[in-house]
Amino acid sequence: MTRAPNASTPTKLTPNLGLKHRNTFGFDAVAEFAYEINSPEQIPAVMSEITSHKQKWRVLGGGSNVILPANLPGVTLLMNIIGQEIISSNSSSTLLAVGGGVNWHELVTWTLENDLPGLENLALIPGTVGAAPIQNIGAYGVEVSDYIDSIEAFDAKEQAFVTLQNEACRFAYRDSYFKQNPHRFIVTKVVFKLPKTWKARIHYADLAKQFSENSNPSPEDMFLAVCKIRTQKLPDPKVIGNAGSFFQNPVVPNEQYKTLIKTYPGLASYPDLPGKRKLAAGWLIDQCGFKGQRMGSVGVYENQALVLVNHGGGTAQDILGLAKCIQDKVHDKFGVSLQIEPNIF
Ligand code: EPU
Repeated sequence: MTRAPNASTPTKLTPNLGLKHRNTFGFDAVAEFAYEINSPEQIPAVMSEITSHKQKWRVLGGGSNVILPANLPGVTLLMNIIGQEIISSNSSSTLLAVGGGVNWHELVTWTLENDLPGLENLALIPGTVGAAPIQNIGAYGVEVSDYIDSIEAFDAKEQAFVTLQNEACRFAYRDSYFKQNPHRFIVTKVVFKLPKTWKARIHYADLAKQFSENSNPSPEDMFLAVCKIRTQKLPDPKVIGNAGSFFQNPVVPNEQYKTLIKTYPGLASYPDLPGKRKLAAGWLIDQCGFKGQRMGSVGVYENQALVLVNHGGGTAQDILGLAKCIQDKVHDKFGVSLQIEPNIF
């Protein structure tokens, strides 16, 4: 794996670092202290110092799934570990090791260019490789956990590097062992297992619409179709601040779903889980009339009600205030609780 710079590079501590350009909401935020982590070898010494000074700390990847307050006390670790390397290949699969700081979409593009398909349904998801397993990113019928072999992370509790195999990561819908244990793991490397046999996954409605019944899409066709849908539906954070889906799609018992569908026959949902139903939060929010609404500097995106946006000058408090209004209204109308998706720092 190529690592730049190497382990002997001294770790640079920057006081009062502005993070406006390191969070996709574009919130003005200042880290009291920030460390650039370019190699895993830097981490033990940095963590030992943080522990001895009893400082608060957190990890920031691409900043695409976080809500940052104006001030982040203590230490913020900026993950920049790059490089990817095929570590083994046999007749059934390829194992690919990737640094936690690699940009997710660039990795997807690289895998396709190198004839390693599998991740194309996850194209254009913002953020880094190291952040992808934390919330188990997913789109168009695929979750990253489907392709993870193992994860290397620094465990702050044990003050040591650990390797967790896929099952130990306890992946679920937008959830993982890492997410359940905040302030504990620093993901340095993800090992992907990409099967040699490939089949297009077009069962997701939006994607199916892009192809005729008898078409036989290639991985590149899938990649382009996903990019097209996402570009149409989701706002580009470079243009308008956002963190993708702001709420998880709520999962309710089948009985509750049956009652709801009687009153609301248009209710959009997915039959993903036995005995339960995953409701489309975007539909619920849309039905409450929030789509395109503004509340000061923040608002609900005009093409997808599940995405909250910062029109400029908004703060974490503003976005959480809007989120509370939405949660209350959806709960009053449908009796369903919405959980916030991004991490609140
Ligand atoms: N819908 C509305 N109004 C809206 C938005 C959606 O009626 O304003 C309806 C749609 O018509 C559709 C249903 O709700 O019937 C679902 O919408 P969509 O297909 O856009 O997907 P989603 O459930 O809103 C999830 C993920 C996305 C992912 C897409 C595609 C979550 C929380 N979100 O969105 O992930 O890209 O499916 O697979 O699971 C993200 O996590 O940041 C993210 C963008």
